[in-house]
Amino acid sequence: MTNNEIATKGQEYVMNTYGRFPIAPVKGKGSYLWDVSGKQYLDFVGGIAVCILGHCNDQLIIALQEQSRQLWHISNLYWIKPQVELAEKLVKASGLDKAFFCNSGAEANEGAIKLARKYFYRHKEDRNEIIVFKNSFHGRTLATLTATGQDKYHEGFAPLPAGFHYAEFNNLSTVEQLLSDRTCAIMVEPVQGEGGIRPADFKFLQGLRKICNREGIFLIFDEVQCGMGRTGKVFAYQTYGVVPDIVTLAKGLGGGIPIGAMLASEKAASGFAPGDHASTFGGNPLVTAVANQVMDIMTGEGFLEQVTKMGDYLVRSLQAINDSRIVEVRGRGLMLGIEFDQDIKDLVNICMQKGLLVLGAGNRVLRMVPPLTINETEVNQAVNILKDALKEW
Ligand SMILES: Cc1ncc(COP(=O)(O)O)c(C=O)c1O
Repeated sequence: MTNNEIATKGQEYVMNTYGRFPIAPVKGKGSYLWDVSGKQYLDFVGGIAVCILGHCNDQLIIALQEQSRQLWHISNLYWIKPQVELAEKLVKASGLDKAFFCNSGAEANEGAIKLARKYFYRHKEDRNEIIVFKNSFHGRTLATLTATGQDKYHEGFAPLPAGFHYAEFNNLSTVEQLLSDRTCAIMVEPVQGEGGIRPADFKFLQGLRKICNREGIFLIFDEVQCGMGRTGKVFAYQTYGVVPDIVTLAKGLGGGIPIGAMLASEKAASGFAPGDHASTFGGNPLVTAVANQVMDIMTGEGFLEQVTKMGDYLVRSLQAINDSRIVEVRGRGLMLGIEFDQDIKDLVNICMQKGLLVLGAGNRVLRMVPPLTINETEVNQAVNILKDALKEW
């Protein structure tokens, strides 16, 4: 089959929920993908910040194969050995106390919203409102799309769940204005992803921590995109010196295997008792065996230092591009955005034709979230293709 034939069949049989590029990658290794025609691409999308160890990492293949011969799925009715091991690693890496596993970022955030509400319900306090932020993105379930501070995601899905209030990102006084004795949590991405690769200011995150301490409410960090080593630390909040009460993960945690997680302090986690929350597939043996391996590699010697080094190198290389349409290069580690003064849709397409996969974050920000394993040669190749594409754009 050709790329076109696959696309045509896809249009016939797959529900029309994605604006897709007209290629069908069928093979991947490291930072590269090959489509069905054999054309090679340097992949700076990485499944949208998922494939942190690149495609088809040899150690992940072994972990997956070994577990697939032992046990695929039981149920959370029983203790799941690799899940318990993964929980221990995440707890020790995060400074939090307990883990819950699910299957996606939206589900992790849904769990965090439920946990915050249930905690106060249990303590007979009438607090169930959550302060979220404009331009945020938290997922596509009804509660998480409501938490998402972008109207376009809400349209047509009314009635939306109640209890979400939208403050300005990086603006503490708008948070203070929305606080009330009904607020149970503040939920924020330390680096906004879909909203345009916007890192929180240090003072802002530190200020949110202080507000939550003062009010006795929970600080929830959505690290679905910015977590798992992407900023050069296991958790982005570790680059800020601020610890949340609850943090959510997905994407990079499985390196390409679908898994999500919510970590919480002992206090926050006490909001749930058996029966309050669950997931059939959450943390099953197959996915947690792979995620354990992802954690071991990502926290192994020198890995995160290399992320910081490559991130700095990529930023410097992008900043050296001389093009008056570039407004700003920003981000943290290997979560980078180049803001242009105009819509970048055509630029993304030209890059793809030239063999570089990148994506947008909003209309004017070109996003790069490559595997965390990229090297200098691959960065140079990406920057050269981008420069070439800019000449044509
Ligand atoms: C910050 C953030 N939260 C949540 C989500 C939703 O994750 P998922 O698509 O796995 O449900 C995303 C997805 O892009 C995200 O970037």
